[in-house]
Amino acid sequence: MISTGHLLVCFGLFAFASGAGWGYHGAHGKGHWGESYSHCGLGKKQSPIHLQTATSEYKESLANLHFEHHNIDKEKDKFFIFNNGHTLQLGVHADFVIKGGSLGGTYKIAQLHFHWGKTDAQGSEHHKDHKAYPLEMHIVSYDSEKYNSLGEAVGKDEGIAVIGVFFKVNDHHNKHLDPILHHIDAVQHPDALHHVEVPVFNLQYLLPHHTKYYFRYHGSLTTPGCNETVLWTVMDMPQFLGGPQLEKFRTLLEGPNTPLVDNFRDPQPINDRTIYRSFPHQLEYVIIQDVVVNEAADSAAPHNQFSYIQLALALTTAALFWFTH
Ligand SMILES: *[C@@H]1O[C@H](CO)[C@@H](O)[C@H](O)[C@H]1NC(C)=O
Repeated sequence: MISTGHLLVCFGLFAFASGAGWGYHGAHGKGHWGESYSHCGLGKKQSPIHLQTATSEYKESLANLHFEHHNIDKEKDKFFIFNNGHTLQLGVHADFVIKGGSLGGTYKIAQLHFHWGKTDAQGSEHHKDHKAYPLEMHIVSYDSEKYNSLGEAVGKDEGIAVIGVFFKVNDHHNKHLDPILHHIDAVQHPDALHHVEVPVFNLQYLLPHHTKYYFRYHGSLTTPGCNETVLWTVMDMPQFLGGPQLEKFRTLLEGPNTPLVDNFRDPQPINDRTIYRSFPHQLEYVIIQDVVVNEAADSAAPHNQFSYIQLALALTTAALFWFTH
């Protein structure tokens, strides 16, 4: 049984914010956040930022990162989505933890949400090498060894770890977004308390194929109160979604007849922060990305296994042919 109180503790961060009357545009838009939330205006470690491969510092010790689903309980584990007027959020009521990634703690995933644009030229919060992406996903976790909830961790140094993932549009449908997008019509109107249950799936599928290429820096929440307690990991390699899937996000409403689009904050000054990257240089990655583009296209595991089996069969056949002739 999930009590309402519990939900508010876990997910209230954004639900409360919604009640506090801030938005992305107009009188309470992003240019005015600092008037009500001191960190948004005066902070020196704000997020998002413009990530640049050339000026970031390579840190070899930054390890591969993945998610683990612990204490699986088919009855109790639940995902649900809601529209809080600022974003589409997926509440995670299951024991997913981040492994690796050199985070120095056990971070438990509480929720994920998205930022997207009205057009494909904008939408992401972080920019990378002078480029914005049409969608960015944030997987929000907190140090569950030290704190009992996201709400408690917000005020604590490195209390929160967020994984940022860029999405690019291509011709292929990303079926891993289906559990969310199949139910999006039910949350078209903003109402942070209207939760729609969606099937539990492995959150790992939402990460790009290669999770050892990322940027790491100390920053903030990208929404009020912009608290500077977030250890950021932004994946270098983008994920993919189909054009019609991106359109689905744009059908959400932020108010009566007002589409929920362009819900991103602009890059903030880096000031004296060092931005680390886990990979030595860009060139190596571009080559790998091309391979992975194809893998992502038919990311269904049985499909991939099938092609490996096919390849193995072909090699075996070739070897047999070689030996017998
Ligand atoms: C988060 O930051 C805001 C100011 O931007 C502040 O009012 C609030 O108390 C902070 N939250 C915590 C838990 O420290």
